[in-house]
Amino acid sequence: MKILLLGKGGQVGWELQRSLSVLGQVTALDFDSTDHCGDFSNPEGVAAAVRTLSPDVIVNAAAHTAVDKAESEPELARKLNATTPGLIAEEAARLGAWLVHYSTDYVFDGSGERPWVETDVAGPLSVYGSTKREGEELIRASGARHLILRTSWVYAARGGNFAKTMLRLAQERERLTVIDDQFGAPTGADLLADVTAHAIRHLQRRPEEAGLYHCVAGGVTTWFDYAKFVIERAQKIQPALQIKATEIAPVPTSAFPTPAQRPHNSRLDTSRLQSTFGLTLPHWQQGVERMLTEIL
Ligand SMILES: NC(=O)c1ccc[n+]([C@@H]2O[C@H](COP(=O)([O-])OP(=O)(O)OC[C@H]3O[C@@H](n4cnc5c(N)ncnc54)[C@H](OP(=O)(O)O)[C@@H]3O)[C@@H](O)[C@H]2O)c1
Repeated sequence: MKILLLGKGGQVGWELQRSLSVLGQVTALDFDSTDHCGDFSNPEGVAAAVRTLSPDVIVNAAAHTAVDKAESEPELARKLNATTPGLIAEEAARLGAWLVHYSTDYVFDGSGERPWVETDVAGPLSVYGSTKREGEELIRASGARHLILRTSWVYAARGGNFAKTMLRLAQERERLTVIDDQFGAPTGADLLADVTAHAIRHLQRRPEEAGLYHCVAGGVTTWFDYAKFVIERAQKIQPALQIKATEIAPVPTSAFPTPAQRPHNSRLDTSRLQSTFGLTLPHWQQGVERMLTEIL
């Protein structure tokens, strides 16, 4: 199987380099690749790379993920999250290739407390959310065989992440304030990459099960409880850690005004993914603890 991986250097892209390698021959590109164009600000260039490489499966992990910055550069965000993925999907349809793509809890308006299911109506609150939603729609409209995994609160051992920021702040400050009115599930890039590889295998045998799925780790938390978990576990894993923070205080989202509005309810129901692909999504704490053990 020939696989084209786009966005190889991101959190998910990096883990996909590992998980896809057992499925076949992987060509992995980033925005600055020289052999073939992987720069999503150049849609025609990426489309030409797809035509030249003629893969059986395209996995797109590239995106404009700077949620606040997207508010001031909506055209670039739309290109990276919607129109270029849409063009890739059209090329995939012409080649008969599969397209795997990632989307987000930010396509929803965050109302209520019930976990969102795939058939719920989207209502993005931000440029990032609406461009990701448009990307989903363009891929579906292209007629390409596709898998779209909507996920949330992605972290990885590699690069910066919320847990690392909390650990740094807890070593610098005596008091931390963390948002406690947004609910979701921290999801490891490694988990997403492993699910992707299993799902690709599954879809080779059952192409009729293509489509949109929610894919997040099990359980639900807030940024506040997530931060407390990280600091407590980090101290157990690494007792030499000099934690200065004696108080972690819960605050509402309004305490941290940001250019982009975030959904309060980011719970995603993963029943459809688990039953269709026969997979189990482990509790979020399991992956976060593993990541902490790796970084400490
Ligand atoms: N991160 C989250 O919390 C989260 C939540 C829900 C859904 N998702 C979705 O999950 C997928 C993977 O996200 P992630 O967390 O792995 O994001 P990430 O770490 O930000 O990775 C995105 C990748 O796209 C690259 N990129 C930026 N501009 C590009 C361009 N012009 N052409 C090609 N590539 C470009 C980035 O490169 P640079 O790093 O050099 O800019 C980065 O390697 C995305 O579809 C995202 O929307 C993420």
